[in-house]
Amino acid sequence: MTLSTIIPLAYLVSAVLFILGIKRLGHPETAAGGNRLAGLGMLLAIIGTLLDQQILEFTWIIAGLAAGGLIGLVMAKTVKMTAMPEMVAIFNGFGGAASGMVAVGEYLRIIGTSGAPSVDSGVSIMVGTLIGSVTLSGSFIAYGKLKGIISGNAISNPIVRLLAILMALITVGAAVYLIGFETSLPIFWGLIAASLILGVLVVIPIGGADMPVVVALLNSYSGLAAAAAGFVLGNNALIISGALVGASGLILTSIMCRAMNRSLSNVLFSAFGSTAASGGGRGADGDKVAAEIGAEDSAMVLGYASQVVFVPGYGLAVAQAQHKIRELADMLTARGVNVRYCVHPVAGRMPGHMNVLLAEANVPYEQLCEPEDVNPDMENIDVAVVVGANDVVNPLARDDASSPIAGMPIIETDRAKICIVIKRSLSVGYAGIDNPLFYMPNNRMFFGDAADALAQIAEEVKQL
Ligand code: TAP
Repeated sequence: MTLSTIIPLAYLVSAVLFILGIKRLGHPETAAGGNRLAGLGMLLAIIGTLLDQQILEFTWIIAGLAAGGLIGLVMAKTVKMTAMPEMVAIFNGFGGAASGMVAVGEYLRIIGTSGAPSVDSGVSIMVGTLIGSVTLSGSFIAYGKLKGIISGNAISNPIVRLLAILMALITVGAAVYLIGFETSLPIFWGLIAASLILGVLVVIPIGGADMPVVVALLNSYSGLAAAAAGFVLGNNALIISGALVGASGLILTSIMCRAMNRSLSNVLFSAFGSTAASGGGRGADGDKVAAEIGAEDSAMVLGYASQVVFVPGYGLAVAQAQHKIRELADMLTARGVNVRYCVHPVAGRMPGHMNVLLAEANVPYEQLCEPEDVNPDMENIDVAVVVGANDVVNPLARDDASSPIAGMPIIETDRAKICIVIKRSLSVGYAGIDNPLFYMPNNRMFFGDAADALAQIAEEVKQL
């Protein structure tokens, strides 16, 4: 077998492994294996590329691998679970930059030899440069908003919108000119500058609260930029993997929008999540009174229940309480209580956030369930324990058509016989709206950090 057959074969096998890997990521039980398969596919693709005889110099490749690998390793080891969306945003930005630089490098190479790109390679170069630059600057703005460096407020300013339209027209006009008429370095640099500004203008008006959806969308863009880079280089593995990232990012964006019952245009243009927070106190808000419960009484109702559902939310991640929830659930199971964990698709701040946390604590897969498994039978649940969740159990989504989260499917813990909400105060969650669940007669608030509260309840269950 010659290299000219080995390389395409390696790319083909790697593409199959990517697809099988993504398929297996769809279920928590098979996800780790899926990740390994996709990793193997990436290894094959890298080996295929390194065997490519167009590579003349390995020094830079090895230096890049060592430096990039080290930075990636340190970042992956040190990143906090709650900071994952920021990390993904940065990765998308670098992905876009890498693809854009391939396109820029190719354009400079072609015009350096006093040539002009053919129409198809010109289209690939301009698309790669444009999407790569938009992804780079947009991702860094998303990172800044998630990190709190840039204000997370949604800025719905018509001037920003107009400027964005102007930049979009400039980039498209410049690309058409460079492909159809003549090569020009100043116009090409102008296209890059306008694309970078466009990325900033597109993301800056969106509220920090909607950043996870934007990050998924930018992830899709980084895939498209990589596919364009694949066309520029004539590299099939890059075209296929870029297209896979582009498509899966788009599917993920649409799943997140559907789970929040919002359209993508609503996410991009509605200034959601900028509502001023209310509530905030402990026990009472105005004339509404939220009844409290302590560890001993919580242990009593849980220890003698027959059906218990835990509903984890963002606060579980903040408190890193995944091991504590599992310990309490195991103690209840040992007492003969039927325990399940009900995971809402948009609980937390990133797709699969709760599943990752619960998997970290080795929660048995058979105890995981979805809202549609629990909601029809909610009246028969003796105790629903909401751990650091808020919006995903807010009855306003179901009952108030004017609420910002109207229509978002929720876990209806307000219909359980008893609901215990563990959080530090009555303050609002991500959507910035009050939650009437806290004041319902069958609800009890357990104020405190989720990990501490669960540990206290577990201690009391031991005494039963
Ligand atoms: P949220 O509605 O954001 O509520 C989380 C609650 O956790 C807060 O009200 C906070 O209350 C509490 N909390 C924070 N730290 C805590 C701690 N150490 N111990 C105990 N509680 C703590 O969370 P959710 O119910 O998971 O809903 C997720 C929201 O994010 C939804 O609105 C969803 O649409 C949105 N969103 C999710 C995603 C994905 S993909 N997951 C993407 C975009 C948007 P206290 O401050 O009173 O403790």
